[in-house]
Amino acid sequence: MNVLITGGAGFIGSNLVHYISQFRPNWNMTVVDLLTYAGNLQNISSVLEGPKCKFVRADIADSAAMSKVFSSTRFDLVFHLAAESHVDRSIMGASAFVRTNVLGTQTLLDLARSSDVQRFVHVSTDEVYGSLGREGRFVETTPLDPTSPYAASKAASDLMVLACYKTHRFPVLVTRCTNNYGPYQFPEKFLPLFISNALEDKKLPLYGDGTNVRSWIHVNDHCEGLLRVAEKGREGEVYNLGGEEAAELENRYVAELLLQALKKPKELIEFVKDRPAHDLRYAVDCSKAQRELGWMPAISFEEGLQETVKWYSENRVWWEAIKSGEYLSYYQENYGERLSS
Ligand code: NAD
Ligand code: DAU
Repeated sequence: MNVLITGGAGFIGSNLVHYISQFRPNWNMTVVDLLTYAGNLQNISSVLEGPKCKFVRADIADSAAMSKVFSSTRFDLVFHLAAESHVDRSIMGASAFVRTNVLGTQTLLDLARSSDVQRFVHVSTDEVYGSLGREGRFVETTPLDPTSPYAASKAASDLMVLACYKTHRFPVLVTRCTNNYGPYQFPEKFLPLFISNALEDKKLPLYGDGTNVRSWIHVNDHCEGLLRVAEKGREGEVYNLGGEEAAELENRYVAELLLQALKKPKELIEFVKDRPAHDLRYAVDCSKAQRELGWMPAISFEEGLQETVKWYSENRVWWEAIKSGEYLSYYQENYGERLSS
């Protein structure tokens, strides 16, 4: 089985590479990643040392470069994860999101279709549905109503992927997952940012009043869901994947939990100016994935958070290297006027 994984040097992609290497050891993987600020080859260096994984640095929106990738190997399966993925950066500038998330996805679809790929798993997000009130859950047929430029670009890519099925019967599958956490997550996202800031005794910038709710899923549960979708999902279908009900939590509660785990004072939390159009709540109904694929998240948030806090505590070198250079300019631009110090 030849598998192409786009975005395999990023957070979820690199965890998927490790997951496949452990649970589908006979698969041959090709990772394509542009290594933007969010990509890091160190995340998959141990797998790249072995014979089952090769790496190509390329831009998914560059059709000439991607053509070479598709002509070098006949892929059976594509997991498409490459994306610009951070909401705050999409608010600062949306063009890169349109280029990678929309044009990049279409470029891949065209090439995958002409090279007879058997399954194309498009890894999308619950953010395409927009924001929920305090009650209810998104189902796969909930109309798309994205709020941020990031979410809008993902929604656009979902529609192109589904149109490719409807028009050409190309065997696509779309997943929409909630907030992932775990090792190798770039420290601009909530959990790794807050854990690493706390480890450095820096302020934790909590947006608004901190009552926004996210549904947390361990990245390995997401990876298992992606394998089930690839192996058992129905073509042309969308599958929601999300955390257990007990992991639908307000941000301020999660911030307090991680400070407790690190034995750091609550006073490190600083309430700062809210993110524009900050979605209040996400929660998905995963009964379709449960019914059709036998999938459910298996890692409790309590256990997963402890393990994740431990990972960032023991891997300071990994995130300290990232929190320099370009990261500092981004941090200043996003938080400079928000934080008191
Ligand atoms: P990430 O930002 O950590 O990784 C994205 C990867 O894509 C990076 O390695 C980056 O170098 C690469 N990339 C960016 N532009 C590229 C381009 N033009 N060509 C090739 N590679 C490029 O993101 P993530 O959190 O791992 O998310 C992966 C996917 O999962 C995304 O599609 C995202 O929308 C989706 N998703 C993420 C979450 C989450 O909570 N993180 C939840 C649901 C869905
Ligand atoms: O729901 C899935 C999505 O989850 C993915 O599609 C995105 O790629 C991923 O980034 C994530 O989006 P969010 O916007 O939910 O994640 P983020 O980590 O940026 O923020 C999580 C919550 O924490 C959100 O309510 C905003 C809040 N927050 C975030 C940051 C970075 C803060 O309060 N302070 C912060 O500094």
